[in-house]
Amino acid sequence: MNQDSPLFKDLSSVLYTEEELHSAVAELGHRITQDYQGKAPLMICILKGASVFFTDLIRQIDLPLEIEFMAISSYGASTVSSGEVRVNKDLDRPIQGRDVLIVEDIVDSGMTLSYLTRLLHNRGARTLKLVSLLDKPSRRTVQLSVDYSCFQIPDAFVVGYGLDYDEKYRNLPVVGVLDPKVYTK
Ligand code: IMP
Ligand code: MG
Repeated sequence: MNQDSPLFKDLSSVLYTEEELHSAVAELGHRITQDYQGKAPLMICILKGASVFFTDLIRQIDLPLEIEFMAISSYGASTVSSGEVRVNKDLDRPIQGRDVLIVEDIVDSGMTLSYLTRLLHNRGARTLKLVSLLDKPSRRTVQLSVDYSCFQIPDAFVVGYGLDYDEKYRNLPVVGVLDPKVYTK
């Protein structure tokens, strides 16, 4: 995608370029490969935000992994969490006894992942770890630690590489700060 694209024009700054994302994701894939030697983890992509990160990440993990998808309700057209988590599409298979990795796009308040952690823990996963492309630790309202993340970011609303505002900007190849003029009228 060209930098002159109207999608790029709505960014106030680019936080991570395609190259930076690629090398961070490759490094994370390498770490997970090392940490899960001898295992066949089940990687769960949290739709839709994690989809772009997920498809890049799994190709950087050299293990006999399996994938699943789960869709949960997100912010919609707002930039703050409603605190309400709803499962819109559940897993296709049981996770009993599996080494599960939940893959998210970003951890903000932590409410989404803390809900999912409890849900999947109760379904009998053998181990459960959290992977997130981005982590905004300053915004946490619940206690939650992310096991694997590529970048810690300051408190700003970001889009691209799967992350949306009102379902747009997911196809931007970079991660950038959305210009507040887009959502403050
Ligand atoms: P949490 O439950 O507050 O941790 O929110 C996590 C979810 O909110 C993520 O999966 C995203 O869908 C959304 N979200 C949080 N911060 C941002 C952001 O800066 N840009 C886009 N989506 C975000
Ligand atoms: Mg979202």
